[in-house]
Amino acid sequence: MQLGEEIRRRRTFAIISHPDAGKTTLTEKLLLYGGAIQTAGSVKGKATARHAVSDWMDLEKQRGISITSSVLQFEYEGFCINILDTPGHQDFSEDTYRTLMAADSVVMVIDAAKGIEPQTRKLFKVTAMRNIPIFTFINKLDRDARDPFELLDQLEKEFGIGTYPMNWPIGSGIDFKGVFDRKERQILAFGDMHKGQMKLDAVKCDITDTAGLDGLIGEYARRELVSEIELLDGASFDFDLEKVRCGKLTPVFFGSALTNFGVQPFLESFLELTTPPLVRNTKMGEITPEDEHFSAFVFKIQANMNKAHRDRITFLRICSGKFEREKEYLHVQSGKTLRLSQPQQMMADSRQIINEAYAGDIIGVFDPGIFSIGDTVCDKAKKVRFEGIPTFAPEHFAIIEHKDSLKRKQFVKGVEQIAMEGAIQIFHEPNTGMERVIVGVVGELQFEVLEYRLKNEYNVEVTRNNLPYQYIRWVKNPGLDISSLNLTSDTKWVQDFKGGDLLIFTSDWNINWALEKNEGLILEEFSRE
Ligand code: G4P
Repeated sequence: MQLGEEIRRRRTFAIISHPDAGKTTLTEKLLLYGGAIQTAGSVKGKATARHAVSDWMDLEKQRGISITSSVLQFEYEGFCINILDTPGHQDFSEDTYRTLMAADSVVMVIDAAKGIEPQTRKLFKVTAMRNIPIFTFINKLDRDARDPFELLDQLEKEFGIGTYPMNWPIGSGIDFKGVFDRKERQILAFGDMHKGQMKLDAVKCDITDTAGLDGLIGEYARRELVSEIELLDGASFDFDLEKVRCGKLTPVFFGSALTNFGVQPFLESFLELTTPPLVRNTKMGEITPEDEHFSAFVFKIQANMNKAHRDRITFLRICSGKFEREKEYLHVQSGKTLRLSQPQQMMADSRQIINEAYAGDIIGVFDPGIFSIGDTVCDKAKKVRFEGIPTFAPEHFAIIEHKDSLKRKQFVKGVEQIAMEGAIQIFHEPNTGMERVIVGVVGELQFEVLEYRLKNEYNVEVTRNNLPYQYIRWVKNPGLDISSLNLTSDTKWVQDFKGGDLLIFTSDWNINWALEKNEGLILEEFSRE
C-alpha cells in the first residue's frame, strides 16, 4: 500500500467520560467488531480498571497492564483504528489530558441518566482547545434516562457546542424500544435478543409505515416519536460536516453499550465522519501527515515500577511519514541521533515489536533517559520541532519535605526526574530552594505514587502536608512585581523552576478578586512554555 493510502485509512481517537458512564464497555464492544478480542471483558478486567491505590503500587504487573491498555489498535472494514485510553478517576492525571493532544478526534460517553458529570467537563475543556471533532455517545438507554432534549440542551449550554442527533431514542429503561435513524429515516428496534449478543442486525422499520411501527413499538410510542421527530427536524442544527470537523458541532448517538445496541451504527458513522490524521503545527509551519519524512512527538512517559531497572517507556505520536525500525532518527531537543529501541505497538491485550508504523499511529519505545514530554523525534533529512504540549493546571497541592536531611541530594534528583516525566509539577515559594517543594498534581493519586516512587526508587522518605489550594494560574504579565499585587490573604505566590510566576487560589472567587483588584493582570490556566 502507498504511504498516503496507509495514512488516510487511519483513525486515531480518545474516548473520554466520567467514571462509570461506560467507556470500558464501549471500547470492548468496538474491539469486538474489529475482531481484536474474542470475548468482551478482556480489555481490562474490573479488578484492574478499578484497582485500589495499594494494588496499583504493589503490583508491577499492573503497570504492565496499564501500559498495554494505553493504546489499542485494530482493523475494521479497511480502517486502521487507534483508540487512546484515558485513565479512570483513580489514575486521573496530567497524562489523561496529554493523551488528548495525541488524538485526532474524541468520543465522549455520557450516562443518559446523569448527563454531563465533572470529569467529562474537565476533559471537554481540554479537547475544545484543539478544535478537533467531538462525537457524543449517550449511553445506557436500556436504563431510565433523562429527557433527550434536556440532554442536548445541557451539552449546548454548558459546552457551547452545537448538537446534531444522528439517531433518536424511543423511550428508555423498560420502555426502551429502539432508536430512529435520522439519515435512513427508519427505526432500529431494541429487544430482549440484544442482551448479551455480540453482533446483531437490528429490526428495521420505515417511519412512514404506521401499521408496522404500531406493531413494533406500540401506538403510543409511535405517536410520541413522530411528534418528537417533527420537533427535532424543525428545531435542531443542520448537519454541517465542516462544523463537525472543527469541533463546533457534535454528532450525538443514543445507544446502550452493554447490550451492544447502537454500537455498530455508531462506529460506522463515526469512521465516515471523523478525520484521518490531522495536519500538525511545528515551529517551522504546518506538517502534513503524508509528508514522506517521519516526525513524531512525545506525549506520554511511563516509568516502569520495576526498580531493578528503571526503564521508562516513551509514547510517540507519529505525525508524518513512516517509521522504520532499523532507521536512525534525530531527537531534536538533544541533537542526538538514535535508533529507537524495541518499538512496540499494543494490540488489545498484547504488545508486539513492530517494524513499521505510520502517521496516526502511536508507538512505545524504551527511553534511554533523554526524552521529555513534548519532544520531537524526526527524520534526519528534515528537521522539524513540534509546538510544546501545554502544562495543565494542577488541582491538588502539597508541601513535600524529605525526612532525613542527609538524603537531600536523592530527594532533589527524584522529585526533578518525576517532574520531568510529567507526573507531577513542582513549585517553590519565592526565595526558597529545594528544601520544601510544593507539588501540584491533577489527580490526588499522584501524591501517593510520588511518595511510593521516592521511597522505592530513590530511597527517600518524605512528609506531605496537603495545602488547601485548588486553582493555579500562570501570571503572564512580563516583569510584573507580584509582591505589589492586591490579593486575598489566602492566595499564594509561587514560582516554577524556570522562574515563572504563578498564583495559587483556594476558590474561583479569589481569582475574580485578583482580576478585579489588579487592572491589566493576565492569568492563564494552561501554560504553553
Ligand atoms: P467506565 O469505563 O466509563 O468507568 O464504565 P464501564 O464501562 O466500566 O461501565 C460502568 C458500569 O456501567 C458497569 O457496570 C457496566 O456494565 C455498566 N454499563 C455500561 N454500559 C451500560 C449500558 O449501556 N447499560 C447498562 N445498563 N449498564 C451499562 P458495573 O455493575 O459497575 O460493572 P459490571 O459488574 O457490569 O462489570
